[in-house]
Amino acid sequence: MKIAILPGDGIGTEIVAEAVKVLKVLDLPFEMETAPVGGAAYEAAGHPLPESTLALAKAADAVLFGAVGDWKYDTLERRLRPEQAILGLRKELGLFANFRPAICYPELTHASSLKPELVAGLDILIIRELTGDIYFGQPRGRRTAVDGHFPGAEEAFDTMRYSRPEIERIAHVAFQAARKRHKKVTSVDKANVLETFQFWKDVVTEVHAQYPDVELEHMYVDNAAMQLVKAPKKFDVVVTGNMFGDILSDEAAMLTGSIGMLPSASLNAANQGLYEPSHGSAPDIAGKGIANPLATILSAAMMLKFSLNQPEAAARIEAAVQSVLSQGLRTADIYSEGTRKVSTREMGDAVVAAVTGNSVAGATMTKTIKG
Ligand code: IPM
Ligand code: MG
Repeated sequence: MKIAILPGDGIGTEIVAEAVKVLKVLDLPFEMETAPVGGAAYEAAGHPLPESTLALAKAADAVLFGAVGDWKYDTLERRLRPEQAILGLRKELGLFANFRPAICYPELTHASSLKPELVAGLDILIIRELTGDIYFGQPRGRRTAVDGHFPGAEEAFDTMRYSRPEIERIAHVAFQAARKRHKKVTSVDKANVLETFQFWKDVVTEVHAQYPDVELEHMYVDNAAMQLVKAPKKFDVVVTGNMFGDILSDEAAMLTGSIGMLPSASLNAANQGLYEPSHGSAPDIAGKGIANPLATILSAAMMLKFSLNQPEAAARIEAAVQSVLSQGLRTADIYSEGTRKVSTREMGDAVVAAVTGNSVAGATMTKTIKG
């Protein structure tokens, strides 16, 4: 089994190092190979997604990805910006199905910006289509307007589009995921305004005929944004397009109070996948040793489950994460009074210890579960 390790920028290198440490103690026959991506690759090779990095990712069974991006690259032409690396990997590997769970750990209920009773026990799964929509639609660019409100003015434009097979395959993914959960899918669209999303709604409805055991509801994206903060526990699986999914998954992540805890998986039709934390490169805290490595460690667990067929190893990691939280260990982002603040590395070490069955000396302490 071959894993491509792409740490990227900012806190990416720090958090991926901890996840690699955890993978190593599992004692499974992995081959891991590291390559630069994002701004780091631009510095090293003049491109955010060098040919060699892409080739490694394509040849691997799975990719463990940190994060890319730094404000200092904002003035580069678009094709050289770090973000192009992740968009390029999604496109080149055909990673159309993005799983973004938003789970509220009981120990962290108080960290949410919502009232504890609204988020306690929250477990929703956002399934975001990842290779279509306005992100990839052509044409796009800048030109002189020939019509509209200001003919003759400079304008910019993008193209929102979805084809039937693109919608069908993500709908199947969503209904099948719902079957393993609470059998409810909310399809989020903007069918009241957009042709693309009327089509989305129609096709999802057609596919639903094959899943009579799953409940399907349709919701406009603006209402979904509102319902997510009003009654988030009413959702089970949410399926939506690339751009709405980008926005709603950040919103859902924040409900849990800890974007530093949330993993994600992006899969193609062959179950080859890219696994990354839901958060970004956080350049403001990079190099300080305070980033939360748990989202990346949990992404490694998703990788073991979805792409490497090692569900037991995945369960060991998930149990270890639960255990360090119960021990009261917290990185700064999830710290609260009465818990013990630890560094990125200490958190990684504690997970390693929990995976291998040795608890960290001094780690045991009073557990505070507010709310
Ligand atoms: C995400 C990010 C990316 C996206 C950026 C970095 C291109 O926000 O994975 O959600 O918009 O998809
Ligand atoms: Mg995003």
